[in-house]
Amino acid sequence: MADPVPRSRKLSRMEVVLSSNCHCSTQTIIPGFGRAIPNRRSFNYPIMDQILALTPRQIVAELDKYIIGQNDAKRNVAIALRNRIRRLMVKSDIQKDIVPNNILMIGSTGVGKTEIARRLAKVAQAPFTKVEASKFTEVGYVGRDVESMVRDLMEQSVSLVREMKNETVKAKAAESVEEIILDILIPPVKSAGFTRSISVNTDTDSEPGTDCELNERTRERFRDKLRNGELDDRKIEINVKASSPMGIGMIGNGMMDDASMAGLQDMISGMMPKKVKKRKLSISEARKVLLEDEMSKLIDFDEVKEEAIKLAENNGIIFIDEIDKIASKSGKGGGGPDVSREGVQRDLLPIVEGSAVNTKYGVVNTDHILFIAAGAFHVAKPSDLIPELQGRFPIRVELQSLTQEDFSRILREPKNALTKQYQALFEAEEVYLDFTDDAIEEIARLAFLINQEVENIGARRLHTVMSHLLNDYLFEVPDVIQANSKIMVTKQMVEDRLSTLVKNRDLSQYIL
Ligand SMILES: Nc1ncnc2c1ncn2[C@@H]1O[C@H](COP(=O)(O)OP(=O)(O)OP(=O)(O)O)[C@@H](O)[C@H]1O
Ligand SMILES: [Mg+2]
Repeated sequence: MADPVPRSRKLSRMEVVLSSNCHCSTQTIIPGFGRAIPNRRSFNYPIMDQILALTPRQIVAELDKYIIGQNDAKRNVAIALRNRIRRLMVKSDIQKDIVPNNILMIGSTGVGKTEIARRLAKVAQAPFTKVEASKFTEVGYVGRDVESMVRDLMEQSVSLVREMKNETVKAKAAESVEEIILDILIPPVKSAGFTRSISVNTDTDSEPGTDCELNERTRERFRDKLRNGELDDRKIEINVKASSPMGIGMIGNGMMDDASMAGLQDMISGMMPKKVKKRKLSISEARKVLLEDEMSKLIDFDEVKEEAIKLAENNGIIFIDEIDKIASKSGKGGGGPDVSREGVQRDLLPIVEGSAVNTKYGVVNTDHILFIAAGAFHVAKPSDLIPELQGRFPIRVELQSLTQEDFSRILREPKNALTKQYQALFEAEEVYLDFTDDAIEEIARLAFLINQEVENIGARRLHTVMSHLLNDYLFEVPDVIQANSKIMVTKQMVEDRLSTLVKNRDLSQYIL
């Protein structure tokens, strides 16, 4: 199992520091580039292989596909992500003491904070949840309590683990599903004297032996048809477990927290006899329903829970957006909503620091969950957060304001770039949209200008500008602009459509 990893790769300073801190050989700490990692004790999930192979550079490269600039932020999240894998590879007792370095991302609105988090979640394939700090209320008030973020994370983790496990039993489950469907189509012949009529009429009073053979042959014929998809639209009746429409949410409302309520709900529905309902479905539909059913029969849910807890604890990432909204402006705490904001910050402390949170799947320890907080901090400053909380986010990364050049790159380069999105929309109706280079430059210039003159909303401005620019075309397709047309957006067009608006400040305040 412990494949020695070649030492050929040069150690970066970071790795050297790590290895000297951890009293363990470099072999366990440095995985080969994209190579299987030795020593995977606490995380044997197949899906993890992909992320385990991701080095910080690769993570940044992945983020680069969607986010322009913001290199500092990308590097830091990449390091944080990789550090957790490094930590899991540490053999000695110090492993438990290596705390995640939580990150605070600071940057004005629309520069990519949330986008980085969103993409990170995809890259990480780790349990990930994004919450808005402003949605929480202090314990005791009506609203969401901060612990719910850990419960959300757990939900994610459970579905991740379940997915991974499903993958491992899928083939086997599919086999049983095929048999079940065949049983419905061609009920098997009971050998003990009693012969059931088979759906394919034989009109002979033959002996059970021949019946059996015939049945078997028909069954095989149908199996082929089933596999070819020839029977997909045929309706069959299957038994499905009815989900119990329990109304105990009503009783529990306000009197207990979500976790206990969900637990209670599970307990009660576990005690109720499982209702089975007959449903008529097409074979292709039925196959899906039955597959879910069969897979869950093959999976031990206790194991799922256990692994999900481990996964959330060791690899979970919680992104707390809008954290500046719970920072009090003055720090004097002078009454009003500030009191509650500070309360939320205080409630956050133990979770970020590490505590045990009760979820319906069991107790989750938050010690090693990675927290990334982000905020624009236009009004409040990071120093307006209570000092204890500031201390829990030791890594500060500032996101840069976007330049006009960034804007033109954002319009063009990301995988989901706006120009590509609009092109796809038009192409759906076989209209081909394109932009000249100077048109894109002009859009970027105007967006940048409006941001300066009206209000800086970052790259979001590009959305409003683009939609204003292209709205008329979107309206005219396909009535006036028909399939196979080509639209070339030129600088002149951009100027014609937008420059009067840009010049007229009042208008642009409303429209762009
Ligand atoms: N650096 C960037 N590269 C590519 N696209 C970006 C970048 N920054 C912002 N965008 C685009 O702008 C939109 C808004 O960005 P995002 O949601 O990340 O803003 P934010 O920094 O979270 O702002 P807020 O503080 O208002 O929440 C995104 O949908 C994204 O498409
Ligand atoms: Mg945001």
